[in-house]
Amino acid sequence: MRRFLLVLMAMMLSVGPASAWGPQGHDVVASIGEKALTPAARTRVKQILQGQSLVAVANWADGVRTARPETAPWHYVNIPVTEGGYNAQRDCRVEDKLDNCVVAQITLKTKQLADPTLLSGTRQEALKWIVHFLGDIHQPMHTVGNGDRGGNDVKVVFEGHTTQLHKVWDSGIINAAADDHDDYAARLFQSIKPAERQAWLVARSPVEWVNETFDIAKTKIYGPLNLIGHPGPQTTAIVLGADYDTDKIAIVETQLKRAGIRLAALLETALVPPPPRR
Ligand code: ADE
Ligand code: ZN
Ligand code: ZN
Repeated sequence: MRRFLLVLMAMMLSVGPASAWGPQGHDVVASIGEKALTPAARTRVKQILQGQSLVAVANWADGVRTARPETAPWHYVNIPVTEGGYNAQRDCRVEDKLDNCVVAQITLKTKQLADPTLLSGTRQEALKWIVHFLGDIHQPMHTVGNGDRGGNDVKVVFEGHTTQLHKVWDSGIINAAADDHDDYAARLFQSIKPAERQAWLVARSPVEWVNETFDIAKTKIYGPLNLIGHPGPQTTAIVLGADYDTDKIAIVETQLKRAGIRLAALLETALVPPPPRR
C-alpha cells in the first residue's frame, strides 16, 4: 500500500505544467488516427510497435520527460502572439541548432520512421514521438507565447476553480465534454465529412499545421481575452465565462480531428510504399 501511494504521488508530481493535451486529448488523437489508417499501414504500425496500439503509446512522450529533460521543449513552440507566424530561427533555435521545438521534431522523427536502414528500436521510438507530437502541434496553447509559457502563467477561473489558461486547453474543455474517450473518439471520427478530411490534408507540413494552430491561439484565445499587448505572467485571475467550454469545444474537437487525420496520412506516407509505376 505504501508503495502504491508512493507511485501515485510520483505520478502526480511528474505531471508538470508542460504536459500537453491531457492524456485524454492524446488518446483521442491516437484513436482517430488508428481508425483513419488503411489496413496496410495499420499492419506496419502494429509491427513497429510490437503489437501495441497507437493509443497505448500516445502518452509515452510525457512519461520520459523527467528522465530526459532535454526533450521538454520538443512538445511546443512559443511563437510570439504579436507575430504573424512561425520563424524557425526565432522560435526553434537552441545555440546553432534549429531542432528545439515541436515543428522541427515532427520532421526529424518522420525521417527516422521512414528510414529502413535504422534500427527497429529507433524507428519505434520515432513513431511514439510522432503520435504524441501530432497532438501537441494541434493544441493552440502549444504554439504560442506571450511571456507566459504558453498560458501556463495565466491564472484563470474555469468552472469555479482557479487554474491556468494552458490547462483549460490541455484538458479542462475536453473533460467537460466527454467522460469515455473511446466513445468520444469514435463519435468524432464518424462526424468527419469527406470534404473536410480532404481540406485538412491539403496542409501537409508541420510548418503549415503550426501556423494554422497559432492563428487559432491568437484570434480565438489571446485576442478575446485581451492579452495581446499585455505580455508576461497574469497573476490576477481572469474569470472565464460560464459558457467558455461550450463556446470553445468546437475548436478543440476540430483540432483533435485534424490531428488524428493528419497523423494517419503521415504514417501512410512514411510506412506504406507507393504502388509500383507501370
Ligand atoms: N513551456 C513553455 N512554453 C510552453 C508551451 N507553449 N506549451 C507547453 N509548455 C510550455
Ligand atoms: Zn506533449
Ligand atoms: Zn500542454
